[in-house]
Amino acid sequence: MKQNIRLDYNNMMADYLGSEGFTDAELDAVAAKAATAHAYVEQNAGKGMLGWARLAYDQDAIVEDIVATANDIRSNFKAFVVLGIGGSALGPIAVFQALKHMHYNELSDQKRGGPKFYVEDNVDPERMNALFDVIDPATTCFNVITKSGATSETMSQYLIISRVLQDKLGADWTKHVVATTDCEKGNLIKLAKKEGFKTFYIPSSVGGRFSELSPVGLLPAAVLGIDVKTLLEGAKDMQERSKSADLRQNAPLLCAALQYVSMGKGKNISVMMPYADSLKYIADWYCQLWGESLGKAVDLDGKTVYAGQTPVKALGVTDQHSQIQLYTEGPFDKVVTFIAVDRFRQEYRIPEGLPDFPDVNFLCGNDMGTLLNNERKATEYALTKAKRLNHTIYVPEVNEYTLGQLLMLFMLETAYCGAMLNINTFNQPGVEEGKKATFALFDRKGFEEKKQELLSAKAKSDKYIIG
Ligand code: PA5
Repeated sequence: MKQNIRLDYNNMMADYLGSEGFTDAELDAVAAKAATAHAYVEQNAGKGMLGWARLAYDQDAIVEDIVATANDIRSNFKAFVVLGIGGSALGPIAVFQALKHMHYNELSDQKRGGPKFYVEDNVDPERMNALFDVIDPATTCFNVITKSGATSETMSQYLIISRVLQDKLGADWTKHVVATTDCEKGNLIKLAKKEGFKTFYIPSSVGGRFSELSPVGLLPAAVLGIDVKTLLEGAKDMQERSKSADLRQNAPLLCAALQYVSMGKGKNISVMMPYADSLKYIADWYCQLWGESLGKAVDLDGKTVYAGQTPVKALGVTDQHSQIQLYTEGPFDKVVTFIAVDRFRQEYRIPEGLPDFPDVNFLCGNDMGTLLNNERKATEYALTKAKRLNHTIYVPEVNEYTLGQLLMLFMLETAYCGAMLNINTFNQPGVEEGKKATFALFDRKGFEEKKQELLSAKAKSDKYIIG
């Protein structure tokens, strides 16, 4: 049976929050803007930087190739390592955590049924050394993922693994590398052609943070034995259910409108709080998607707007014991999105056993999932009582189909919200600036001017350094 995720936004409304909540009239006031944003996404799906909106429809041949390649990797390698960062890493991490065993790499080979899985999304030298302590390059496949083929972090990792593999395996080393990159731009595609790596392409119309449903995410998922066709079907289902321009009939559009109205009222923080460990890294993936897409200094008319909402990740119930105090009693500057799971894939019954200790005994005989969900309901109640904006996305069960829906819901929400804000959702000039400054610090050719700019910046004063 196809299960659909659902949105409950009662606790965003004045009926429940009083003056802190929104009225129907306030939603009506942004309905036309939301409809225009919806039309923009519908009309441009597959074009410009909206290629991600066609990935669930147009990838049949690519998916066949991905599944065949993944089966090959599953049979021939003991470890699969993703080298990538940002949009080239957060999706694979989130999908892995959502759909595979929580201690996947520690399972026996037989129980795991496929290679161990690592995502190296940093250039910390201790971490790189640690990786080589637990993998044997001779039995490892490395998936180098970079759309630009120029990202320093990923290319430095590529340089390291290519040297290690060449030293260890000689000419056969190229069979241990799969490249996922733009089909013509950047260095990785040139290297892939030169060395003859198996290569998958990231369409030029799909940006990093919108790329999880492209080969960026699908190959790692397929190597893990995840049913990528069902993941795509779930995403498609969400798109099909988002055809209405009426925000009350379209969950991603409604989410976008709610956040848009929230931002207008100074709610500058968006907290993503799943109540399930399996969805923990969906919050990380969302943080990049929301932060990098909406955080823009100027709008499409060149007006300075400093748009955006700071995304924060939290995990229920863990962060009830860390952040909820602030969310309940701190500044009125947040919108909390809970993700609730109706049915956990496995349960654990808390045993009977302490009848003489009623303060503990009330827990006995309950399922852990019931405890988790009751704590979520209690937190939702406490936030609502304190008049804090919150809404809940219900996931019937975490599986390929519902995860595909969830990923697409957030991508659509982001695209709609960016259009409502009249900003470029798909660029990241702030990130590019840092990338260029890094190149200049390493005296990369072509970045001489940037180097001069850096050198002429005001030097730090010892006056403000203590310790
Ligand atoms: O969303 C984005 O475009 C960025 O976060 C990129 O994914 C990130 O900077 C990595 O870029 P690349 O895939 O080109 O190495």
